[in-house]
Amino acid sequence: MREHIGPRDRLALVAESDGGPVGFLVATLRKRSPAFGGWRYGHIYDVYVDAAHRRLGIGAALVEEAFRWFRRHRIRLVQLQVRTRNPAGIEFWRGLGFEDLALTLERRL
Ligand SMILES: CC(C)(COP(=O)(O)OP(=O)(O)OC[C@H]1O[C@@H](n2cnc3c(N)ncnc32)[C@H](O)[C@@H]1OP(=O)(O)O)[C@@H](O)C(=O)NCCC(=O)NCCS
Repeated sequence: MREHIGPRDRLALVAESDGGPVGFLVATLRKRSPAFGGWRYGHIYDVYVDAAHRRLGIGAALVEEAFRWFRRHRIRLVQLQVRTRNPAGIEFWRGLGFEDLALTLERRL
């Protein structure tokens, strides 16, 4: 979290309730390599809401605030990764308009 606080190309948001933290979002500005067009895009690393405060709109509010920050930086495309074993997370992102883009594969050695 600390490395996201301060740099102009990083965003760190904290949601508070009754003076205490109940959620956070971290994001950054990225640029594709020239070989892939060199276009800029936003990347959301993580969004997390404390279990006792879920389904209250806090996660969506954090993402909407990140969208505002991206737009201020003239970003028109946002990407992120979510685990296939996280159906709630997938539903959350789909509800916010995100669509499938890539498949990340892994295997144990
Ligand atoms: C995913 C997460 C951030 C959602 O936070 P939240 O504050 O509960 O989300 P919101 O209340 O803003 O939900 C917005 C919408 O997302 C969808 N949604 C959220 N949680 C859901 C769930 N468990 N199952 C299905 N849909 C869900 C719903 O459409 C919801 O709208 P509704 O409550 O009116 O039906 C939270 O569950 C969390 O921190 N999970 C663990 C970390 C994680 O998986 N992060 C996302 C992957 S990086």
